[in-house]
Amino acid sequence: MSLQNKKILLVIGGGIAAYKSLELIRRLRERGSAVTAVLTQGGAEFVTALSVAALTGEKVHTHLFDLTTEAEIGHIALSRAADLVVVAPATADLMAKMANGHANDLASTMLLATDKRVLIAPAMNVRMWQHPATQRNIAQLKADGVIFIGPNDGDMACGEYGPGRMAEPLEIVAAITQALAAPAGPLAGTRALVTAGPTYEPIDPVRFIANRSSGKQGYAIAAALAAAGAHTTLVSGPTELSPPPGAKLVRVETARQMLAACEAALPADIAVCTAAVADWRPEIAANSKLKKKGDGPAPALHLTENPDILATLSRHAKNRPQLVIGFAAETDDLIANAKAKLVRKGCDWIVANDVSANTGVMGGDNNTVHLITAKATEDWPAMSKADVATRLAQRIAETFSQDLGNQAV
Ligand SMILES: Cc1cc2nc3c(=O)[nH]c(=O)nc-3n(C[C@H](O)[C@H](O)[C@H](O)COP(=O)(O)O)c2cc1C
Repeated sequence: MSLQNKKILLVIGGGIAAYKSLELIRRLRERGSAVTAVLTQGGAEFVTALSVAALTGEKVHTHLFDLTTEAEIGHIALSRAADLVVVAPATADLMAKMANGHANDLASTMLLATDKRVLIAPAMNVRMWQHPATQRNIAQLKADGVIFIGPNDGDMACGEYGPGRMAEPLEIVAAITQALAAPAGPLAGTRALVTAGPTYEPIDPVRFIANRSSGKQGYAIAAALAAAGAHTTLVSGPTELSPPPGAKLVRVETARQMLAACEAALPADIAVCTAAVADWRPEIAANSKLKKKGDGPAPALHLTENPDILATLSRHAKNRPQLVIGFAAETDDLIANAKAKLVRKGCDWIVANDVSANTGVMGGDNNTVHLITAKATEDWPAMSKADVATRLAQRIAETFSQDLGNQAV
């Protein structure tokens, strides 16, 4: 695992070991990582923002209420842009804030807002480390999934001896490498393919046939699968959405491009087809813009059928994903149509949702879905698309933790 092109967000807390973080930045940068630093008020007592900026080659972030970045909600953007958040040194104070969900400065707010994994290198006096309060915080942070490196035993700057010395920069580099190599989560080691959004089917260079799909549900599913540890590729038609964290995004326009991108993403263990792929496309896409011809008749559009991506993946001779999930957006006879679709397409599960105009599902943030498998229909309550995604990822993870050869429940 290389650290080339990795983005590390480094929080430098207020401990004597902060000087070692300067060395850490050097070691990360020589391995090709970009380091963005947040220096706490305490941290700035030990190392200067100037040193940190010179070594990272970037502006150092120090204040929550920095108007320029906060106009763009800078603390959220900071926490989402990184591949990994590293806190070194992690002081007793910073750990207490993290364990208790405080958000009263830039570092703690960013740490609460992040959706990325967090690795901490604690450093403090041995008595501070052994104090029951710190030990409670350590237990909480471990339960929250925070990764620890160190502290080491040894002589301390304060003259005492014991656990509390921050891990050496190269030890931290090794821990970062390991954390980035092995995604955590119940779907770690699996590959997922998600399709999302509409397709655009060209009529001529400026016109196309499209639909009202926003892509929100598919993007949320890609993010949830990636968060569960799956190596996730999202193949997306045109949308207004930001790339989902942790997933590889492949942008396409037409159904045929979407199918080609899906084929390129195989083999995959899981395929979730949420894209609203146009059933038909104009048989001929004109090379030049079609012109009005006086009072002549309007041009007729001759449509031809597009490839069926869900059916193709479900019946893939060479690389059928172990679990293929389709979405059925229906306006009438939801369950009956969705069940028929499950059989027709040959997929394992169908997530059915009613997209009638009055539901607000198309383009909206909420969804009411029914999960249809070969054996049962589950009616899920109304919830946000993000919650549908998380619940679906959980169901997929449960299935994959059972007998893989028997997973189409
Ligand atoms: C000279 C000096 C050294 C300190 N070293 C540490 C330390 O190694 N670890 C620690 O947890 N706190 C240490 N502290 C206390 C922290 O600086 C203090 O708790 C501060 O509020 C932490 O700021 P932060 O939350 O921004 O990290 C030290 C304080 C002083 C004055």
